[in-house]
Amino acid sequence: MASSSAAAAASAAGAVASAPVEDERPEVSPDTLPWVEKYRPATMDDLIAHKDILGTINRLIDNGKLPHLLFYGPPGTGKTSTILACAKRLHGERGWKSMTLVLNASDDRGIGVVRDQIKGFAGTKKLFSTGVKLVILDEADAMTSDAQFALRRVIEKYTKNTRFCLICNYVSRIIPALQSRCTRFRFPPLKRSEMEARLREIIDLERVNATETGVQAILRLAQGDMRRVLNVLQATSLGFDTVDEASVYACTGDPSPKDIRLITQALLTSSVAETFELIRDMQASRGLALGDIMQGVARVMERAVQPAKAKAALFSALSRIEVRLASGTPDKHQVGALIAAFVQMRELLEDDGDDEDDGGEVLVAEEGGPTSSSSAQSS
Ligand SMILES: Nc1ncnc2c1ncn2[C@@H]1O[C@H](COP(=O)(O)OP(=O)(O)OP(=O)(O)O)[C@@H](O)[C@H]1O
Ligand SMILES: [Mg+2]
Repeated sequence: MASSSAAAAASAAGAVASAPVEDERPEVSPDTLPWVEKYRPATMDDLIAHKDILGTINRLIDNGKLPHLLFYGPPGTGKTSTILACAKRLHGERGWKSMTLVLNASDDRGIGVVRDQIKGFAGTKKLFSTGVKLVILDEADAMTSDAQFALRRVIEKYTKNTRFCLICNYVSRIIPALQSRCTRFRFPPLKRSEMEARLREIIDLERVNATETGVQAILRLAQGDMRRVLNVLQATSLGFDTVDEASVYACTGDPSPKDIRLITQALLTSSVAETFELIRDMQASRGLALGDIMQGVARVMERAVQPAKAKAALFSALSRIEVRLASGTPDKHQVGALIAAFVQMRELLEDDGDDEDDGGEVLVAEEGGPTSSSSAQSS
């Protein structure tokens, strides 16, 4: 497809003055790019994971039956990369920019965009070009609902020569009428094994000095987000000579598994004053955010063996603290609330312990380690 007609189509792109297309800046050396961009998959074959989704889309493109698309899922799972690779497959490396309109959250997301830019692009006939045009609405969940309602009609009107692809993190923020006009694909968080192979490849290409514990720490922190994998690797390799577990956690400011173990142990067994001091000291010396500490502690407690009643009380208290943290309450107050949640759970366990002799104990399974037991003492 990267033929002279595609080149002509590219030069005709100026006709769509209102169609801002990404990547029209002058080429820069790949070495100056952040690794997330340097290693952005260029073709469908470069994408890791989601093989079933890619297989379906490839078949639809090959049969000329591409429907309107809706990609959704958490950040860094390859939604934007997939649609850009699709655009290149549809129109070739040279022609795709003139046949594609990319709008994302940095653009105005109101009804004006739908009326002017999208209609302008979709309604213009391209000379010398074949195939359907593609309108990519990245971060579509940020569109106003007026704009979404207006888009319903536009999608139907221009279906003959244009396909729309909506991309978002939260599918519930897309109005049902738009959802029903699109074929939905969910991009789940990437599996550790899938990310690991790509991570090791990039470590070799960039000649990063990384240890096994460093690799595992990056994968653990990323939680299925490939963008995070690359960002943490690049930041740590710039700041430290060796990418190992300690440097990765120091670079990201996340609590390490050892920190989490210490804090959980204190929450389960130490006095209120001691636990408060431990957490505040760790926060001050290492810059740990309470939200990250809570996530780690919650993960440990999810696996802990304890009566359901105590677990339920703990998790509902933790979720209330998270809401308060999100609304901007100072960390210091919420550290107190976290300790209070554990004190209440310990009291519940003690009550249980009075009733039945085997209560009052929490068994905590460590990540990859043996199960340790902590008696709930009162503070
Ligand atoms: N499936 C994948 N295969 C290979 N690389 C990937 C994949 N997913 C993400 N990446 C890497 O992560 C970076 C970000 O991916 P991308 O922009 O496609 O994510 P996204 O799903 O659109 O995220 P967001 O919802 O935050 O926009 C890419 O540049 C690429 O380096
Ligand atoms: Mg994206």
